[in-house]
Amino acid sequence: MRKYGDFLWLFIYNAHFYFPSPRKYWGLSLEYIYTREAGHRLIKDRRILHDSFVPRKLPGREEEIRKFSSLLSPLLGNEPSVNVVFLGKPGTGKTAVAKRVIQDFSELYPSAPIRYIYINCSRANTSYRVLYNLNKEFGMLIPPSGYPYDELYNNFLDAFNRMRSWLVLILDEVDLLVKRDGDRLLYSLSRLEGGEKGIMIVGISNAPNFLDRLDPRTLSSFSPETIIFSPYRAHQLFDILKQRAEMGLQEGSYEDGALSLIAARIAEESGDARRAIDVLRMAAELAERENAQKINEEIVMRAFKHVDEEEVMITIRSLPLHHKLVLLAAARLLAKGDPRPGTGKVYYQYKRIVKDYLAKPLTMRRVSGILRELESMGLLEIKMDYGGSHGNTKVIGSLVMPPDEMNRILEKMGFS
Ligand SMILES: Nc1ncnc2c1ncn2[C@@H]1O[C@H](COP(=O)(O)OP(=O)(O)OP(=O)(O)O)[C@@H](O)[C@H]1O
Ligand SMILES: [Mg+2]
Repeated sequence: MRKYGDFLWLFIYNAHFYFPSPRKYWGLSLEYIYTREAGHRLIKDRRILHDSFVPRKLPGREEEIRKFSSLLSPLLGNEPSVNVVFLGKPGTGKTAVAKRVIQDFSELYPSAPIRYIYINCSRANTSYRVLYNLNKEFGMLIPPSGYPYDELYNNFLDAFNRMRSWLVLILDEVDLLVKRDGDRLLYSLSRLEGGEKGIMIVGISNAPNFLDRLDPRTLSSFSPETIIFSPYRAHQLFDILKQRAEMGLQEGSYEDGALSLIAARIAEESGDARRAIDVLRMAAELAERENAQKINEEIVMRAFKHVDEEEVMITIRSLPLHHKLVLLAAARLLAKGDPRPGTGKVYYQYKRIVKDYLAKPLTMRRVSGILRELESMGLLEIKMDYGGSHGNTKVIGSLVMPPDEMNRILEKMGFS
């Protein structure tokens, strides 16, 4: 017994050899421990690099902010104003400007007789859902479905008529509402009368021809002032990135040249600030993972590749099975060295692949249709091959990325 007792003491005394303990960190701060364990921390505040963050200052949008503010300001003096639309490509700051100006107005003029309601029509993409949200905003609790449309509308109308302030209604991504459900709600809202004050509708859309899609009657009562948001240029994107880097990253953790590179490339391809910030975030994550001291141009180049890959993966993930299989067939043929496989060849390859997935093959006609859909999503390019051995035929010109990489992505997603 005694023998075992000795062993026990020996065991307890030397326990730190058997069980690694945090002893080596005693006296050090938790922050230090986490930094050591997790690698070099470059990101100071991850939220700043997130899409939903709206900074106090929006570089490059001073003119749009001024214009929108001047359209809002008559309401401060109890004068009516006009409706507005913001038009511009994705990532040009439309949502950010709308939110920034509303927030600034609310803070600067807290007692102004204005009520702001923001509704994103990508979620509320039917008239019913928009009205449901409006009912909720006015404190009416109703079930989310099954309530009669007319009652929803009348509830809102009653609340509007009782209002003592102006209603500024921001319908973001309003084109999605009109596409899904027509423009009847926009028509009714822009003809609203009554209320002690009135309504000002701010429609936001990234479809440049949004107004052309409206019925002439709707257009004539809505008749908005237009604020155009042009794609950002390189120097504006640089300022946007610099601001995010200063706020969200540790001091000295990035080279200005790296930011310039992101700005220049994005200005050339789209002018989309969202994508520029995505690349910066990805570069910071890569640098952290690799324990790099600074984000440099080399890391940025790789960040672009990762972001592109992520975007392609998101698009592919949303595709139905047969679309994925047709894409796989095209990628395999191109990767095997066929420089311009015709649609017939793609169909043959697709039929062989379909067997592995125990699915019934679609017709050649349908597969041609799918190829056109994949082209419109930007995943591949179809070209005409004039005067080949089979006469004029359609061929796959290229994929959005090198075929080997596309195959690798598809493999990652379980298609091999
Ligand atoms: N001028 C700017 N300054 C700082 N950040 C900006 C600026 N413009 C856009 N951003 C940021 O870029 C991202 C995209 O901007 P925003 O959401 O406003 O684009 P959008 O024009 O509404 O695009 P979409 O049509 O896709 O909705 C957001 O994170 C936003 O905060
Ligand atoms: Mg937006």
